[in-house]
Amino acid sequence: MKAEDKQFKRTTVTSALPYANGPLHIGHLAGVYVPADIYVRFLRMKGEDVIFIGGSDEHGVPITIKARQQGVTPQQIVDKYHGIIKKSFEEFGISFDIYSRTSHKIHHETASEFFRKMYDAGQFIEKVTAQYYDEANDQFLADRYITGTCPVCGYEKAYGDQCEKCGSSLNATDLINPKSVLSGNVPVMKETKHWYLPLDQYEAWLQEWILKGHKEDWKTNVYGQCKSWIDQGLQPRAVTRDLDWGVQVPVEGADGKVLYVWFDAPIGYISATKELTPDWEKYWKDPETRLVHFIGKDNIVFHCIIFPAMLKGEGTYILPDNVPAFEFMNLENDKISTSRNWAVWLHEYLEEFPGKQDVLRFVLTSNAPETKDNDFTWKDFQTKNNSELVAIFGNFVNRTLVLTEKNFEGKVPPQGVLTDLDKAALEEMKQIPGRIAESLENFRFREALAGMMNLARLGNKYLTENEPWKVFAIDPGRVGTVLNISLQICAQLSVVAQPFLPFTAEKIRKMLDLPEYKWADATLLTWLSSGHQLNKAELLFEKIDDKAIEAQIQKLLNTRKDNADAGNPSVAAIDAPKLIPPMQEITYEDFSRLDIRAGTILEAEVVPKTDKLLKLKVDTGLDQRTIVSGIAQYFDPEKLIGQRVTILINLAPRTLRGIESQGMILTAENPDGTLYFIIPDQGVDDGASIK
Ligand code: 2FM
Ligand code: ZN
Repeated sequence: MKAEDKQFKRTTVTSALPYANGPLHIGHLAGVYVPADIYVRFLRMKGEDVIFIGGSDEHGVPITIKARQQGVTPQQIVDKYHGIIKKSFEEFGISFDIYSRTSHKIHHETASEFFRKMYDAGQFIEKVTAQYYDEANDQFLADRYITGTCPVCGYEKAYGDQCEKCGSSLNATDLINPKSVLSGNVPVMKETKHWYLPLDQYEAWLQEWILKGHKEDWKTNVYGQCKSWIDQGLQPRAVTRDLDWGVQVPVEGADGKVLYVWFDAPIGYISATKELTPDWEKYWKDPETRLVHFIGKDNIVFHCIIFPAMLKGEGTYILPDNVPAFEFMNLENDKISTSRNWAVWLHEYLEEFPGKQDVLRFVLTSNAPETKDNDFTWKDFQTKNNSELVAIFGNFVNRTLVLTEKNFEGKVPPQGVLTDLDKAALEEMKQIPGRIAESLENFRFREALAGMMNLARLGNKYLTENEPWKVFAIDPGRVGTVLNISLQICAQLSVVAQPFLPFTAEKIRKMLDLPEYKWADATLLTWLSSGHQLNKAELLFEKIDDKAIEAQIQKLLNTRKDNADAGNPSVAAIDAPKLIPPMQEITYEDFSRLDIRAGTILEAEVVPKTDKLLKLKVDTGLDQRTIVSGIAQYFDPEKLIGQRVTILINLAPRTLRGIESQGMILTAENPDGTLYFIIPDQGVDDGASIK
């Protein structure tokens, strides 16, 4: 069922609680907080009753490890990072209604009651198992507290849950020569009792609720992961741990045991709501409330299977209506990693690019990893700022205001007789908000942002085509009309940009001296009446120069070098990717039968119902033809128009998904999986033969 087909009275939006063991980076922002914030701002503009919940996830083993490494308490670690995270969210403009934390008393009480209620209803099973124990320190060892040799690749510093060299998931008992990180001793096996959530008992219900109930409305990546988990068969999962940091297990005989961090963290959404409002229950228990979780793809199983099973088991809560999980954002072609310091840290960005929150919001949204992992590069950041925000959006608003200042003393001129161009612009303006809204309602943020940019483009084009600066001397009335319409476009931009670029929207409102409008007003077209006095024009965006970008790139190069010097186990560094071995020899005649030409892509679109195939129309110099190419995961179709390429034109046609493909685009694949076109040099015309 589509979102708009269901009737809800209010919406509870949660965003994954980041671990308070490091600062925020662009991966967090792109995958969770920027889309969630856009969505919430949009719902607020629509006048909906919505709450936006955030907070720090302050439990779990990595926090205790970090505390140990730094010789401080876990509480000191979470205090430090919670502070940094909260402040940078505020400065960046993520508009939470509350940003809480799971070390608060109210959370411990809420999580504890939740567990107790399920426990009393007999919803857990108890199991005694043998686990590694450090006798010198008198404590059971979490998987991360055990290292040893990886049984898969022989790496000697693998952890009890994962080998960071070969990436294999491990059980602590798989490790060869296991050692306790705490004492360095060989751990012993000791029996311990834990409580398990019998997920197997929820299987039939999950099949019904997700596989049947949410096939249509959940994103394919989310649905696919759930299906694969459910199809593999669900096992009981331990929801308690032997650890001294976390929410204590509220039953007798559970001394030294805490709730598993993934049991308590999602309950943190509920505790935060309790902290926000005494009326919290309506946001969590009323079936007319729509619950939406914004998360990254690594959190899907917890939010779609485990937490819903907990909510269902507890019995009084609503279930998520949608979980729009995003894929990952990489940085300069490498996985973002806190431990390898491979990241753009938000608090540093805010210091180094003051006042440029919206630039980052814009770049992260236009590259949002909605359906596949995406890459953030500093060069692309610069290009998007300079050629879209500055050259199109900012330039249009600035030209309009400056011309009005110059020619009409900053007063809105009246609209005279409308030409066809004016009418077409006004007609287009009416359509834009509806399109943006539809994209946002369906969690298509890139498309929504493109809709907003279309309005800026429309304005820029309208102004350029009408050249008001040329005709003022001859026809001031016409100039007035053109500027009136351009100013209305600026006003409309201040409305529709609000969810995406809130700082910019506010600046425009100030310049135009307009109030903050609701979404329903986005199609008014008469925000500014003639004679309305405008304020002074200010630049909305400024160019980012090469020096600023080079400094950022240099910073990353230094990090790369530090990692190499420290011998950090980055999978990329250790398992240097290998080149494909040479192929069998061919003759000159074999080669000369290949007819390879320089060409240009004219059109590109994803083949429906595929995620790998692009249907391209290319100009080979000899003709225009269709080629289907398996490159959709590497390139955005909209960016391919005009791309020069090399084409094998005498490959026998093949039909793929009902489309006849007449040739092949040549690409080069690096050992790390990155893919590039073979681009003909300047001076090589379409149709030139390549030998
Ligand atoms: O993956 C993470 O960063 C977790 N801290 C997310 C928790 S989300 C929620 F359940 F609290
Ligand atoms: Zn390994």
